[in-house]
Amino acid sequence: QASAALADLFDTHKRVVFFGGAGVSTASGIPDFRSVDGLYHQQFAYPPETMLSHSFYEAHPAEFFDFYRTKMIALGAKPNRCHTKLAELERAGKLDAVVTQNIDGLHQAAGSQRVFELHGSVHRNICQSCGAVYSAEWICSREHEDAASVPVCPACGGRIKPDVVLYEEPLDEHVLTGAVAAIAAADALIVGGTSLVVYPAAGLTRYFTGDTLAICNLAPTDQDANADLLISCDIAAAFAF
Ligand code: OAD
Ligand code: ZN
Repeated sequence: QASAALADLFDTHKRVVFFGGAGVSTASGIPDFRSVDGLYHQQFAYPPETMLSHSFYEAHPAEFFDFYRTKMIALGAKPNRCHTKLAELERAGKLDAVVTQNIDGLHQAAGSQRVFELHGSVHRNICQSCGAVYSAEWICSREHEDAASVPVCPACGGRIKPDVVLYEEPLDEHVLTGAVAAIAAADALIVGGTSLVVYPAAGLTRYFTGDTLAICNLAPTDQDANADLLISCDIAAAFAF
């Protein structure tokens, strides 16, 4: 059984790292990107990859922020069993770190401390002029927007950029370095809820030199052949131990 296999992995390893993606949060009601009901199968005025690009943010800020507010920010979402179990395992000294491609902040909401957010977070929205930081709630409150419905900094009138890695943008160097170090030091790596198609994130597994790579995903991935433990069930169920 999946959860018994994961429980055993935590009992037999000292340095476990979890590396996850959108599938970790589907049980919290946030659709992923590439499943049949994922974001990339919905119809929008532009393809989501376009709307989530830096050039689109620059050229079409109103459409960008409309998409960001309605499709990227999920204010009511609560951590599920996978998030809460990972936080519990970290508190018990059984989990070293979480590396995530998610921008929803649910690992921190569940209590995880050591989280490397490869793609940033919707919970930080930064004024490009004065550096003030605004919450996702503030963005959705639409309290301070210009005539085109684009949020502007109430402190200085500057442009606001979500601290989210858009297409065409590099990953944050410090986050990347920390994630690589955590994975390189791990003796077991659990990869879960990610299609492993977006690079450089998907390439982080090559830094793993431990003895057990577990992949827990509903759909097959390109890296399944490298897995020592392959679990194809709901990840929230796999962490129910
Ligand atoms: P994807 O949507 O590409 O992949 C999610 C994977 O999770 C799929 O393979 C699903 O089969 C699986 N899955 C869904 N629900 C699951 C569940 N309850 N239990 C187990 N598996 C489940 O999402 P990511 O791999 O995270 O980047 O996508 C990577 C990046 O692509 C995202 O971070 C985002 C996107 O473009 C940016 O926005 C920069
Ligand atoms: Zn400002």
